[in-house]
Amino acid sequence: TKVAILISGRGSNMKSLIQAAKDSDYPAEIIGVFSNRADAAGLDYAKEHGIQTAVISHKDFDSREAFCDALDAQLEAWGTEFICLAGYMRIHSNAFAEKWLGKMLNIHPSLLPLFKGLKPQQQALDAGVKVSGATVHEVTPELDAGPSVMQGVVPVLEDDDADSLAARILTVEHEIYPKALKYFLEKRRNTDQNLAAQQTLIW
Ligand code: GRF
Repeated sequence: TKVAILISGRGSNMKSLIQAAKDSDYPAEIIGVFSNRADAAGLDYAKEHGIQTAVISHKDFDSREAFCDALDAQLEAWGTEFICLAGYMRIHSNAFAEKWLGKMLNIHPSLLPLFKGLKPQQQALDAGVKVSGATVHEVTPELDAGPSVMQGVVPVLEDDDADSLAARILTVEHEIYPKALKYFLEKRRNTDQNLAAQQTLIW
């Protein structure tokens, strides 16, 4: 499956996906990395690994819809079949989210449905929870609300601040995102095959 990764910054989750996809048994090929920010550090890593990149700034567009149309055109030009958001900090237009429904995953640093949106690690500390973690989920038009695919759990320690908790969660992010993508794509393929088999019976 031809996968494009969307980033806005550091790109450490992007790296973990690129590394995993080097395995010949892995069901995804990373065909492009897109950023809405030219200064996203992850772009250099992608280029160094021979992956094409594109930058389109949301600031050059009057509306979310127009920006997402330009993003979509770039993804189509690459032949994208599936999207992974990895620290991508833009909310999609409804049209974009609906078009890619079932074909787009995101990773969020909390145990969703808890602590959606910005600063989820600080939200976890403020709530006083004893465990937190990361969730890979399907992207739907509603922010951080799509069906969960895989979660990883970490303890929240007495003396944690947002940075120390974020670092602990990040290690499980790097572990679960490649696993979740593999699981999701293989499950999807099986479902397609099942559907094809059912269709054969129905026809
Ligand atoms: C990660 O914590 C991710 O869960 C969140 O933003 C952060 C991005 O980090 N959505 P990176 O760019 O993948 O290093």
